[in-house]
Amino acid sequence: MNILETRKDLQTLLKRWKDRDDLSVAFVPTMGNLHAGHLRLVEEAHQRADRVLVSIFVNPLQFGAGEDFASYPRTLDEDRRALEDAGAHALFLPSVQTLYPRPMEEMTRIRVPGISEMLCGASRPGHFEGVATVVCKLFNLTRPDVAVFGEKDYQQLAIIRRMVADLDMPVSIVGVPTVREPDGLAMSSRNGYLTAEERRRAAVLQQVLQTVSAGLREGGEMQALLSDAHGQLIEAGFRPDYLQVRRRSDLAEAVAEDRELVILAAAYLGRARLIDNLSVDR
Ligand code: PAJ
Repeated sequence: MNILETRKDLQTLLKRWKDRDDLSVAFVPTMGNLHAGHLRLVEEAHQRADRVLVSIFVNPLQFGAGEDFASYPRTLDEDRRALEDAGAHALFLPSVQTLYPRPMEEMTRIRVPGISEMLCGASRPGHFEGVATVVCKLFNLTRPDVAVFGEKDYQQLAIIRRMVADLDMPVSIVGVPTVREPDGLAMSSRNGYLTAEERRRAAVLQQVLQTVSAGLREGGEMQALLSDAHGQLIEAGFRPDYLQVRRRSDLAEAVAEDRELVILAAAYLGRARLIDNLSVDR
């Protein structure tokens, strides 16, 4: 596996792959601390292109003041081994200085209005601007044919798709279903923040979404279902941030005629902020 830390080394590799050998490239951006969810994206990337390029970059621009940028788990040695085993062809490891050589507040930003301000965007102002900006920069640097993202971060995936469409970026976006622990908890780097006792209760988040989903399919009243689910989360020790049913296509508020829905939730358990979602057709 090629490990590239500078723009120059990345450009040399891409010239060889793309311009000389005419190989297609699938790109998997990550913040590291890789788990089976990330590795499923790498597997998907192998199906989609000749070469698989992964990046690890803990992006300061997408963390708010008081969030976990400093304590975000950094496990580069394990990550590198996991990517070798998964057959990734290259790993791009830019430094903060490489991606943001100028003062952060002077950086050009990508803002995807509307869809970035709801749900996680409402509780984490500026978060999705940080995500869209870094993903745009990484696309420009890595020039991928395909980029692979997880449905676990459903809103993030919708925002990336919107950015790519609005800015005519020449990359196709592939979404991959959420990889879960045996008890249903969505795999996440932030699950490591849970104590053993919290970890035992964490799967309640997914169970509650399943209950709402079953209720919607049986024609149940949405607000009543959500209010019950909210109560169940509190009973299990969560501090819910949001729990909502949205239209899958654009994350607009769901109305009675909408059939293709997604239930989205974010809730704190101890110091971990967990998110999950579940698609439902009714
Ligand atoms: P990170 O949280 O490291 O996630 C990297 C990719 O892995 C994202 O596309 C995410 O949706 C996917 N992923 C995480 N957990 C998953 C799971 N359980 N199943 C399937 N896919 C999963 O998301 C980010 O990093 C950053 O915001 C990034 C896009 C890299 C920009 O900084």
